[in-house]
Amino acid sequence: MSSKRHICFATCAPGLEPLLHAEMRGLKLAKVERQVGGCYFEGAMPEIWRANLGLRTAVRVLVRLSRFEAVDGDALYEGVAAQDWSSFVAPDGSLRVAAKIKQSKLDHSQFVEQRVKDAIVDQFQARTGTRPSVDKDEPDLRVGIHLFQDRVTLQIDSSGHSLHRRGWRRAQGRAPLAETLAAAMLLASDWDGRSPVLDPFCGSGTILVEAALLATGTAPGLLRPRFGFESWDGHDAAGF
Ligand SMILES: C[S@@+](CC[C@H](N)C(=O)[O-])C[C@H]1O[C@@H](n2cnc3c(N)ncnc32)[C@H](O)[C@@H]1O
Repeated sequence: MSSKRHICFATCAPGLEPLLHAEMRGLKLAKVERQVGGCYFEGAMPEIWRANLGLRTAVRVLVRLSRFEAVDGDALYEGVAAQDWSSFVAPDGSLRVAAKIKQSKLDHSQFVEQRVKDAIVDQFQARTGTRPSVDKDEPDLRVGIHLFQDRVTLQIDSSGHSLHRRGWRRAQGRAPLAETLAAAMLLASDWDGRSPVLDPFCGSGTILVEAALLATGTAPGLLRPRFGFESWDGHDAAGF
């Protein structure tokens, strides 16, 4: 996986796309293209690591595995089964599949999610006799299916938990701001990264901590205990 280049999509909160785009250019990611809800880029594992570790406004980094046509459940199943899933989740791991569908013959998202899940777990069952379980809340692997005009885009989430979970927060007030949003506010402001920052309604201090990370040039993901890709088979821990 590590030298193969992938089309990736970094997601962000609506409205933050221009900030994310600028950040991605700053990280020297290739073929950055702004869309609604995020930006595309192209890269291999080192770029996927860099995006996860360094983007302040991104929520997730999705990696495209394949694209194929599917007008029925069987074609969908075959397309998903063509992928070797052993690289991304262990037989005793857990996964979750989420589908988004527009203008397609397969138009029942629960059915689509079920078929995709079956295609993945059947592969494990056939090879190892055990199969990953489904976990809707804290899965080891999140699989995304986009169906648009019968064209399937199959992608996996390289981030794992949302990137707003930086790893620095020990406790929170009643109305914490998402770290990604706090970083966006700072990036959108005219702050020079040097002059004092004052937050009179600091609550649990999200804006201030994000400001400190920015001012010291600290990658926002540096304190995070784990990214999704770290549990992929063949993960190059030393390289990361
Ligand atoms: C939405 S939160 C702010 C989040 C914070 N800026 C951050 O970065 O996480 C609003 C905060 O303002 C505080 N607050 C509201 N009214 C206040 C007041 N009159 N004086 C001081 N703090 C107040 C609340 O206790 C709460 O922590």
